[in-house]
Amino acid sequence: MDLTSSDSEINSQNNTPEIPVKTATIVFAKSGKTITCTENELILDVAEREGIPIPSSCRSGNCGTCQQKLIEGQIQYNNNPDAAKDLEPGMILTCSAQAINTVVIDA
Ligand code: FES
Repeated sequence: MDLTSSDSEINSQNNTPEIPVKTATIVFAKSGKTITCTENELILDVAEREGIPIPSSCRSGNCGTCQQKLIEGQIQYNNNPDAAKDLEPGMILTCSAQAINTVVIDA
């Protein structure tokens, strides 16, 4: 069944409202870059998009390769990464971490 233009207008009016996405700011201290992103973006993904080198391997929180020092701020993990339990205090797994508000990373 083809939709007429009036059907399309009715359907678009019935869409549920978009949930606002919170933004976060990541300061990459060594690189001198301050990036605004959404709170659901992974810090490693933001770094790679901006050309900031952070080593990585598994990208799923298992190996610890992507760990970086969290200088300031808070993060949340989008999963329960295995390697997080073996980190030194102040270190985070950037492949699994999402910034809350403003964070400063030593990268
Ligand atoms: S890349 Fe393996 S824990 Fe992040």
